[in-house]
Order: sequence, then structure tokens, then C-alpha cells
Amino acid sequence: MEKFIRCLPKVELHLHIEGSLEPELMFELAERNGISTPYSSVDEARSAYHFHNLQSFLDIYYQGANVLITERDFFDLTWAYMLRCKADNVMHTEIFFDPQTHTDRGIAFDTAINGIYHALRQGEKELGITSQLIMCFLRHLSEDAAFETLEKAKPHLNRLVGVGLDSSELGHPPEKFQRVFAEARALGLKTVAHAGEEGPPSNIRDAINLLHVSRIDHGVKCSEDPELAKELAISRMPLTVCPLSNIKLRVFDKMADHNILNLLNQGLCVTVNSDDPAFFGGYMTDNFIALNNALSPSPQQLAQFTRNAIEASFVSEERKKEMM
Ligand code: ADE
Ligand code: ZN
Repeated sequence: MEKFIRCLPKVELHLHIEGSLEPELMFELAERNGISTPYSSVDEARSAYHFHNLQSFLDIYYQGANVLITERDFFDLTWAYMLRCKADNVMHTEIFFDPQTHTDRGIAFDTAINGIYHALRQGEKELGITSQLIMCFLRHLSEDAAFETLEKAKPHLNRLVGVGLDSSELGHPPEKFQRVFAEARALGLKTVAHAGEEGPPSNIRDAINLLHVSRIDHGVKCSEDPELAKELAISRMPLTVCPLSNIKLRVFDKMADHNILNLLNQGLCVTVNSDDPAFFGGYMTDNFIALNNALSPSPQQLAQFTRNAIEASFVSEERKKEMM
């Protein structure tokens, strides 16, 4: 089955590019930029990656991004991820970046987006991997800060397929960003939002009804509201589920308890994704293998995750047909 999984064509729809920063590259960039890290070695960094909830991860994740200074740093980060996609047989990827994590440190919006964008284009040219870029607002920051970020994005609209909402879900419900998401949609951007990762099922409903999202990122808490789960199945609202992330952040105690297969069997459009692979122990193939080891899905079910991701992707119908 491992061979089947390695060879299975994959589509990733939930990946924070800053969360693909491996400790080795973090140290390389720290040295290149004359910056110190809180860790004395790669091993020490990896052994610090133990989390008890989302916030305990976010604190370490934002600190890691401090080594990203130049356009070349953002390029190198993204290129390393594209090579991983190639190794994992990922045909298409839709990645997030968090501009506020960088602009709040004095790094220009353009520096971040230029580096990321050029690596994505090179990935398409040299590796044949298509991609899209989604800019996320940090939900622990203010609505005003999100509007300022949207303003900075305006010269780059042709490089962005949509906007998303990430960071601390508890205490920062979707309604806080209703107006900024409305403006993003008026600019022609699609919308997605993290909801129902740690937060209640009502955040999923609100992301759909108030933010008019095309996909829910995570969404696994929908099973606490069976009526909602039924509605998600009927509407085929995609959920970008991240199995290893959910275990590392203690959303489920162990992979055998994960609800992704139940959701698939109920007809929901669930997909498999890696979220922050450098912190959670693996990329796309690793996530599929972890699911396989704990839940023994059939080959048909594994392939259905890819079909669902193609259905949920923001690519042309022509590219969808090519990937199906
Ligand atoms: N930012 C990076 N990873 C995240 C996650 N799993 N949830 C919310 N915000 C994030
Ligand atoms: Zn995420």
C-alpha cells in the first residue's frame, strides 16, 4: 500500500509556506542574514516541536519566520517545498502565505510575494507542478490591519487566487472579518477560512454564511453538529483536512480516532493536506501513510481524496480534466 500511496497523484490545498521551513534551512538563512535563532542546533529545534494546542504551535511558528528577510529567502523556502511536491507526486498545490508575519517585522509585502511567486512559476516551468497563491489574514490581529494588508495586495491581484483566515481561532470568530472578506470578493478573489479546527462548528457555519468561503480549512469539528455535517455533504463544501497537524495539535488524541474516513463515508468533500509539514512531521505522502497505518482506507478511498481535491481546487475546468 505504501507504494500505491507514493505513486498516487496528489493535490495539496492547505499548506502554509512558512510552515514548510525546515530547521536546516532556518539555520542556513539565519547564518546568511546574521540572525540568531532560539536553538543551538537542528536537533534542538526539532525537539522543541512539541505542542499541546494551536497557540503553543503558533508561538514557535511565528518565531521561526524571523529568519526570512530577502526575496531570495522566500524563493529558497518555496523552492524547497516545490521539490518536496515533486518527490511526493503532487500535481497541483494551492499555498498560503501570511504577509502580516513579515510586514510587522519591517519586511516589505513585495519582498515576500515576489520570492514566493517566482519559485511557484519556476516549479511550473521546471517541474510541471501548477499552483495558486492565497494570502491569509492573521485573525488575532485587527480588522484594520487586515484592510491595510488587502491594500498592499492590490498591485499583486493577478498573482493571488484568494484570501484566507488563519492563526488563533478561539476568540477570533469569522464575523470579525466579514467586511474585509466582502471587499476581497468584490476584488474578484475567492475566499477560504480556517474554521472548526479547535473552534466550534458555529465557526464553520459563519465562515460559509458571513465570509462566503469556497472551502473550509480543517472543519473537522463539524462532526459535533450532525446537521451541519449533513449540509456540508449535500453542498459538497470542501474541507481541507490535515491529519498529522490534528494529532500534533491534539485535536484528536491519536490517528485511529481521526474522523476523516467517517466524513468521507458520509459523502463530504474531504481532502488530505500537510498544513505545516516542517513542524508536524511530514508532507503529503507522510499524511497519507499515517492515515493508512491507523485507519486502513481502501485504495478507492485514498484515490477519492485526490479526486475531491481536484474538485475543490481553484483551477480551470481544463486543468481539472487533465488531472482527473
Ligand atoms: N497557521 C499555520 N498553521 C495554522 C493552523 N493549523 N491553524 C491556524 N493557523 C495556522
Ligand atoms: Zn492551516
